[in-house]
Amino acid sequence: ALVSMKDMLIKAKAEGYAVGQFNINNLEFTQAILLAAQEENSPVILGVSEGAGKYMGGFIAVVHMVKGLIESYNITVPVAIHLDHGSSFAKCKEAIDAGFTSVMIDASHHSFEENVKITSEVVEYAHAKGVSVEAELGTVGGEEDGVIGGIMYADPAECKKLVEATNIDCLAPALGSVHGPYQGEPNLGFKEMEEISKLAELPLVLHGGTGIPTKDIQRSISLGTAKINVNTENQIAATKAVREVLANDTKVYDPRKYLIPARDAIKATVIGKMREFGSSQKA
Ligand code: G3H
Ligand code: ZN
Repeated sequence: ALVSMKDMLIKAKAEGYAVGQFNINNLEFTQAILLAAQEENSPVILGVSEGAGKYMGGFIAVVHMVKGLIESYNITVPVAIHLDHGSSFAKCKEAIDAGFTSVMIDASHHSFEENVKITSEVVEYAHAKGVSVEAELGTVGGEEDGVIGGIMYADPAECKKLVEATNIDCLAPALGSVHGPYQGEPNLGFKEMEEISKLAELPLVLHGGTGIPTKDIQRSISLGTAKINVNTENQIAATKAVREVLANDTKVYDPRKYLIPARDAIKATVIGKMREFGSSQKA
């Protein structure tokens, strides 16, 4: 069933697990993630970046694809379609109008006052339609969709102010995580995470889930993280599977011959994450 993230994340935080946001890039990613969720009896969040949305034909095409698969696969677990790193009110509105059940407004690169203003506008529009909202403070490192940023930690006092001023459903405080592979071990700001969780009293989101060791995942969850985003790890698994097929068979031309192994690899990766995050059997 298509739902917002609100109840999913409240339940996850209360019961001490995290729901995975897995980004979709095409049909095969979407199939793999939905099938993994149903098999694991896990709630799931399908993340759609603006770039991936455009690639798939636009937000309307994405919503129809997801709804079509939910129906034909008989998916009964809670599924949210979530705009990942929405860059403006206009983009969030476009996603909501197309049928997304959740949006992230990432105004973290603006001044704090601007971030509050833009995020409030999004919350007002989204909540009137039952759509959940995630906001960000600080800067996640690495690259996403061509946007490169250095790491900047979120300020706990600002987090509290943003949450109180905007009525968002969950908050992504950047605390040292990085999009894409890590150079060495990640160095997450657990002290700040604990402080923000206490001050802000809402489910926290961890971006850059690829490459974070299990002990850090578990510690994050114990400190109030209820949503963890994973994209690169599925991309790596899918591409590795395609490479293997193409390297072993130079005559292959039917795309299904390499996309089925890619889909299987994504599904296996997602199942592993759901078990690691503790969301399996929590639908
Ligand atoms: O918003 C998406 C995520 O933060 C994904 O990060 O590609 O490092 O797993 P990742
Ligand atoms: Zn992210």
